[in-house]
Amino acid sequence: MAVINVTNRAGQTQAVAGKVGNTLMEILRDADMDVEAICGGCCSCATCHVFIDDAWTGKVPARTADETELVEQTNSYKPANSRLSCQIKFTEALDGIAVTVAPAE
Ligand code: FES
Repeated sequence: MAVINVTNRAGQTQAVAGKVGNTLMEILRDADMDVEAICGGCCSCATCHVFIDDAWTGKVPARTADETELVEQTNSYKPANSRLSCQIKFTEALDGIAVTVAPAE
């Protein structure tokens, strides 16, 4: 287990233990951290939108074109920080990553 430091939509931050190999979305959804993930991780709904903390943006794999196309359409899009959490696999290298759940659309 490794940890994700999550700030939810109420602005509360907590450390959530997650299984390496799962996606960030799966970990946040299962921890009831305001991630709805209605498409189940198919990169088609953007309800798993999170902002990656500036200190971690260089440590996550780059967005694919499909992910960028979808996340750019969200109202709260931040070019440097916005990610669909279903598209990021949690690894030991991401232990301690800080993310903020984006506002609901
Ligand atoms: S869960 Fe739908 S885009 Fe990530």
